Amino acid sequence: MRDLIFLTLHIYLILTLVCCIVGAEIPTSRQNLAGAIIDNKLYVFGGQRISGTAVTDTTADTNELWILDLTKSFDISSPPWVQGTSTNAPLVAYHTANVGGPENELLIIYGGENPNPIPSSPYAVYNTKTQEWSTANFDSASFVNRRKGHTGVTNFNDATIIYYAGKRYADFDNLENKALLNNELFIVFTGVDTWTTHVLPSGPEFIAFHTSTLLNGKMYVIGGALDANKLMKMDQILVFDLKKSQWISTPATGSDIPSERLGHTAVGTWDNKIIIYGGTTNFTSYFNDLYVLDTTTYPYTWSNIATNGIIPSGRTSHSMVMAGTNLIITFGQHVDQLKNGYPNNTLVLDTTTYTWQTTYTPSKLELTTPPKPNITYNTNSTDGKSSNATPSSSATSSSSDSTSKIALIIGLVGGIFGVLMFGAAIFLFFKWKKHRYMIQNTQNSTTNNANIVNSIFSGRPMKTDETGGRDDIEEGQLRYMDRDSANEPVEL
Ligand SMILES: *[C@@H]1O[C@H](CO)[C@@H](O)[C@H](O)[C@H]1NC(C)=O
Ligand SMILES: *[C@@H]1O[C@H](CO)[C@@H](O)[C@H](O)[C@H]1NC(C)=O
Ligand SMILES: *[C@@H]1O[C@H](CO)[C@@H](O)[C@H](O)[C@H]1NC(C)=O
Ligand SMILES: *[C@@H]1O[C@H](CO)[C@@H](O)[C@H](O)[C@H]1NC(C)=O
Repeated sequence: MRDLIFLTLHIYLILTLVCCIVGAEIPTSRQNLAGAIIDNKLYVFGGQRISGTAVTDTTADTNELWILDLTKSFDISSPPWVQGTSTNAPLVAYHTANVGGPENELLIIYGGENPNPIPSSPYAVYNTKTQEWSTANFDSASFVNRRKGHTGVTNFNDATIIYYAGKRYADFDNLENKALLNNELFIVFTGVDTWTTHVLPSGPEFIAFHTSTLLNGKMYVIGGALDANKLMKMDQILVFDLKKSQWISTPATGSDIPSERLGHTAVGTWDNKIIIYGGTTNFTSYFNDLYVLDTTTYPYTWSNIATNGIIPSGRTSHSMVMAGTNLIITFGQHVDQLKNGYPNNTLVLDTTTYTWQTTYTPSKLELTTPPKPNITYNTNSTDGKSSNATPSSSATSSSSDSTSKIALIIGLVGGIFGVLMFGAAIFLFFKWKKHRYMIQNTQNSTTNNANIVNSIFSGRPMKTDETGGRDDIEEGQLRYMDRDSANEPVEL
């Protein structure tokens, strides 16, 4: 027994050494990936790697997971990325990545385009605690189709994710056909063992490649494509109020309103502002401008923020997250890609001075650390049994500083151990050549039968026989607005 332990230790040390000699791994460039922060680590997953000049070549999709520790400083020219496991992870691009689960421990991938064979589930779930991929365990009645170019926002109060719109799977590359876009809005309850889906009032626009940002119970939809030739206006913001379960439209003014665009990214700030960055109108030139939308004024106010430092060239289809007061932008497409490939550099903007950084320094990470969910909803399984979702995470977020530090340390040690073992195993046993990349988004929610969750925000019972598709608009919920004449919030 002792021999066995020694032997194991020995092998582990050798593997560790080999791994360190090989050196830190650097992810190659990719676009239409998706990223999220869990426990002060940035996880970016999937996307599409450059393949000749064909941006639409889905064989370039990847299932790589890359992890960046945000608690330590690093030189942005060599971020200390470590690669996570991709075992059982799908090859996707144009998907979404959201935080979920009872402990904010899950990275939830939804939708995206895939090379064949298309996985049977549009969801893939990475558990950051067990470091394993699985498919989502849905109630059998909950089913939503694959899509791309959609958005997802996590409501950290109750571990739900709200998904909006995107392209249906049928013909991802054909934006000419407006019928392929959808306006579906639905919510997924991820805080319980068996997830359920609840269809919410469909949105007023059939849209893709927009952004959605959740701030104080309201989801703000900005930009995106309405069809091949029409982009969403930027002087009128669509808002879904989760508490009222209602769409509204609010004008946005300012001396400088951003150009219409798609493929940009947006994040919310702690003081109720939304920062948008990048995007494109035609995939020929790429925006490198930065705008802030103030949602505390009426109308909302746009400001064009002049940034300082070494101003990067524009990009689109990148990943952007807010880590404390730092904006972190990774990968994407840019104007030099035909010459130099997609951008592989990481950008860091200090939003207290709006200065592009050459060194990332952690700053006020607690500002963007979400609370543990307070799960109060009930689930009803299809067999009619009612089961109270156990409040498996009693909300202790405010007083759990030291607990979360310990958890972080355990996570880090576990993560490092896992990564070392994984890397070493790969190095020794495989000539690994699996590389694919992705993005974020996709398609179409069809059924949500009988099952059922009472939304704590809508306060109304779920419909029990949603048939999905674009016909599932509840009566009276979709009144088309005349956005040109709107000068006050319009209830939709
Ligand atoms: C990153 O891109 C630059 C040029 O844009 C290239 O020289 C470098 O090799 C790339 N690095 C990786 C790891 O792909
Ligand atoms: C692409 O869009 C940008 C910004 O709207 C514009 O300045 C540029 O002229 C466009 N290029 C082409 C080739 O259409
Ligand atoms: C669960 O289902 C039962 C029977 O169908 C129903 O009476 C009950 O109100 C439901 N509970 C919830 C929380 O939806
Ligand atoms: C959790 O939610 C319940 C029901 O909404 C509420 O009564 C309770 O105060 C919440 N707990 C915390 C810690 O926020």
